[in-house]
Amino acid sequence: MDMILTINTDRPYDVIVENGALGRIGESVKPLFKAGSRAMIVSDTNVFPIYGETVTAQLKAVGFEVFSHVFPAGEAQKTLASVAQIYASLAKANFTRSDFVVTLGGGVAGDMGGFAAATFLRGIEFVQVPTSLLAQVDASVGGKTAVDLPDGKNLVGAFHQPRLVVADPKTLDTLPDDFFVDGMGEVIKHGCILDPVLFDALERGTALDRLEVMIARNVACKKMMVEEDTRDKGRRMILNFGHTFGHAIEKMTDFTLSHGRAVSIGMVLAAEVGEGLRVTPAGLADRIREVIADYGLPTKCPFDFADIVEATALDKKSFGKTLNLILLEDIGKAVIHPADRSYLVLRHKLAAEKSRRSAEENHG
Ligand SMILES: NC(=O)c1ccc[n+]([C@@H]2O[C@H](COP(=O)([O-])OP(=O)(O)OC[C@H]3O[C@@H](n4cnc5c(N)ncnc54)[C@H](O)[C@@H]3O)[C@@H](O)[C@H]2O)c1
Repeated sequence: MDMILTINTDRPYDVIVENGALGRIGESVKPLFKAGSRAMIVSDTNVFPIYGETVTAQLKAVGFEVFSHVFPAGEAQKTLASVAQIYASLAKANFTRSDFVVTLGGGVAGDMGGFAAATFLRGIEFVQVPTSLLAQVDASVGGKTAVDLPDGKNLVGAFHQPRLVVADPKTLDTLPDDFFVDGMGEVIKHGCILDPVLFDALERGTALDRLEVMIARNVACKKMMVEEDTRDKGRRMILNFGHTFGHAIEKMTDFTLSHGRAVSIGMVLAAEVGEGLRVTPAGLADRIREVIADYGLPTKCPFDFADIVEATALDKKSFGKTLNLILLEDIGKAVIHPADRSYLVLRHKLAAEKSRRSAEENHG
């Protein structure tokens, strides 16, 4: 498996996936910017104390002038107010268009630092150094940058592709287990929609044997989607597998259930609905449910299906009577399937009634 993947957007960029890549980051970044350029490391209070020194020393050693902006860790910080503080740090250090941002951390550092880079001086370059599983397999590739508003997540943002992504799987050694498990939700999703080999490794329980291979396979999935549909208007929508129901569940729990966990339940629901609509072959929902459970993620839905469908009506991506469901025709083969909301609820009720009756008959 190739450990340097090139993302061919308008201006191609590399994603390096290598154990120990952080300790060589100076050499990787050096050819991309003029000697003497300034670099602003945007990182959080958990990640910077662990990896900040290495990245700073690496970048200094190859001739860059290095600054840092460290924000309190957590999604609550992904706001316009925090971005304004990054702008202030960049302005104070006299950043120009030939200088660059380095986002060091999980998806929050990447999304927010990337958005600051996309907008400061109408756009300066940035390098993504993802340190969470979610950021390495998903958020750091594709150029989506954003912050949250009180009205919803990721409501303000910009497409801004990084100049380079450096993912060092070794950094996951310090990632708390809870976040690792959460990131596995997106890994399972990629297996389901695009990569039968990855899904097979997940089913056999061998996926974590070589983390760098698993991460590179996920980057390859994301690469395929981003190259086909850079601005997320068509085919890239299949990356939303499990997300339509997942987002609704996240909201219904007031975000007490994490994203990866909500999406896992959403994937099971999408597979069940797919079977009901005869798009998904019988038995696939069971296989997906088993894989999700194997990696410590939840499969049981705590809400009534009709309430979830109702909640999807509030999703910014699915207004109107029709829901654009992402369903599986097989592992690795996802389709966009428009379905009427009330029809979905009706079908689900009928299917539940049928299985209740057959359970009763079996008992009788
Ligand atoms: N841009 C995209 O395409 C995209 C895709 C998916 C998710 N996202 C965004 O990503 C965010 C979630 O990402 P996340 O789960 O990485 O959140 P996060 O950045 O908050 O990281 C999770 C936690 O792990 C800590 N952490 C990260 N790396 C660590 C390491 N190596 N060692 C120790 N601690 C570490 C962080 O400090 C934080 O507490 C959300 O805001 C979501 O909207 C963006």
